[in-house]
Amino acid sequence: MHTLARAVPSLAPTAIPFGLENESAYRQWRELKLGSYPARVEELVVEVGDPRALTDAEREAILRRCRNANMAIYAGKVREADKDIPRLLGRQIGLQRLDSNWLADDDGITQLKASGTGERQDYIPYTDRPIKWHTDGYYNPPARRIWAMLLHCVSSAASGGQNALMDHEIAYLLLRDANPDFVRALMAPDAMTIPARANEGRIARPAETGPVFHVDPTTARLHMRYTARTRSIRWKQDALTLAASAFLENLLNSDSPYIVRATLEPGMGIVCNNVLHDRTGFADNATHHRLLYRARYYDRIDDDAAVRIEPAVS
Ligand SMILES: [Fe+2]
Repeated sequence: MHTLARAVPSLAPTAIPFGLENESAYRQWRELKLGSYPARVEELVVEVGDPRALTDAEREAILRRCRNANMAIYAGKVREADKDIPRLLGRQIGLQRLDSNWLADDDGITQLKASGTGERQDYIPYTDRPIKWHTDGYYNPPARRIWAMLLHCVSSAASGGQNALMDHEIAYLLLRDANPDFVRALMAPDAMTIPARANEGRIARPAETGPVFHVDPTTARLHMRYTARTRSIRWKQDALTLAASAFLENLLNSDSPYIVRATLEPGMGIVCNNVLHDRTGFADNATHHRLLYRARYYDRIDDDAAVRIEPAVS
């Protein structure tokens, strides 16, 4: 097993910054977070050789970015279509428990590509159409919360397919700075409902009501469920909830410096603690067919009890 250097500023696990009752813990965390937050997308990128077998330095470089920004982009040299890439990379950064969604292959790793036929074409991830802002598995029940997600690019489209990403902790921070009651509203257990999904007349997934922001009671980690697809979500109809969701929507559609954009090239990938993300539409042609592997996990990257922030990436 790898061991991590721990000589970094850290917050005690008991100092939970995400609860509204603890303003001083929030202020302390906020200062560290903004002070060490990467200013440019390039600062999130880690060059690696083989993501299936990271060196200690590569692994630590990925983890450091994930601690500060909940995401890292790796650029690897392996061009093979090998599902061991996401599986083995995930394991090296603490991701073990894969979520098998109903369109994942049996091994829990989903191939995302524009498929012209079959039931998949009814679902936007399996088309070349744009995907609005969301976190993965926003429709999952609490027992299957998606804490981390990995995307690996096997081949890219002829054009398009760019991802925008925003750290969900930054979204929380900006909402709380604007109005702490926005956060209060989005933490309410009935803040939003994901309608049931019917399949051939039967309920394939029941409606799921829950909060947008959830703080894990044992780890103090922040989890976010969100989708900007209006037909996929019903907001609680009160003024604060609606104002908070409008603020979030405006933020995600703004030119916020906290939104990073990246188009994955073959061999590249994103590892993240299920941050907010979207995808532009794309176009394949005779020689370029976009194929990404996606893995979703019930684990967080490098999970430990403390909410830690590290010095800025140099
Ligand atoms: Fe996604």
